Amino acid sequence: MRVVLFAEEPDWHCRRLIRACSRRGARVTVASLADCAFRIGAGAGAVGIDIPDFDGVLPELALVRTIPNGSFEQVTFRLALLHALQTLGVRVVNDARAIERCVDKSMTSFLLHHAGIPTPPTLVTEHPDAAASWQATQDADLVAKPLFGAQGRGLRRIAAGEAPPDPAELAGVLYLQRYVGRASEWRDYRVFVIGGMAIAAMMRRGAGWITNVARGGTCEAMRCDGRLGALAVAATRTVGADYSGVDLIENDSGELVVLEVNSMPAWKGLQGVADIDIAEAIAAHVVAA
Ligand SMILES: Nc1ncnc2c1ncn2[C@@H]1O[C@H](COP(=O)(O)OP(=O)(O)O)[C@@H](O)[C@H]1O
Ligand SMILES: [Mg+2]
Repeated sequence: MRVVLFAEEPDWHCRRLIRACSRRGARVTVASLADCAFRIGAGAGAVGIDIPDFDGVLPELALVRTIPNGSFEQVTFRLALLHALQTLGVRVVNDARAIERCVDKSMTSFLLHHAGIPTPPTLVTEHPDAAASWQATQDADLVAKPLFGAQGRGLRRIAAGEAPPDPAELAGVLYLQRYVGRASEWRDYRVFVIGGMAIAAMMRRGAGWITNVARGGTCEAMRCDGRLGALAVAATRTVGADYSGVDLIENDSGELVVLEVNSMPAWKGLQGVADIDIAEAIAAHVVAA
């Protein structure tokens, strides 16, 4: 089985995925989506898509570890390549639609709510006036998040009464969410879901309210059964992801709510406390025996 692993550099995650897939007989080639092309017209091969080192042959599986950031045009093109691979019968994991739904935090929030999965009250708007009048109804701190944010970057906590940021500071879209965390001893949960099953979970404790491992959050293993696992599995199904890293937090009433679903999750922090090998579990799910 030929596999393309879309990534920018063969990092820790890639090395583990390559090892796990190779053990199952797959031949894995790492390539960047930025180096692929559509080739259409006379003289072009039947495939229509160039992937470095594939010489006009299609892989059976495309594993998407990362999509490089870029202009709106670049990202649209890179996603189009993934959609096109699917059209040609390549299994793409996670598929382009799931990635689009997860990268856009507004769509994730909408889908979670639509599926009846608890998630904090959220307003996404381009209009400061709408943001201000919604804020007046919340009686709580808010969190402003970049729509395409990751790893806790660019988050801002806004005290009740403090003005929300100017949309221009957030690429024109205000994603505002009710702050539902604690006043101290901050913690939330990360659950890894593969193939409809929660396979590992951890509690993240933060030195501040942003608990991402990339921001210094520390990891503690958790059981992934019960409501924690069930909500993570439901959230993953809702966005249509084959595997994901789901963030959950306890709200002011002590109920678990889903913050977001990551369709290209890192798992180094979780692997440090998990008793299952996560790359092996992904490979077992995607590589035919
Ligand atoms: N509404 C919220 N209430 C309390 N804490 C939050 C809220 N939203 C995010 N956080 C904290 O910030 C972290 C990052 O937020 P998240 O939505 O997961 O974005 P990112 O994509 O940057 O990880 C969460 O893991 C949590 O610790
Ligand atoms: Mg997160």
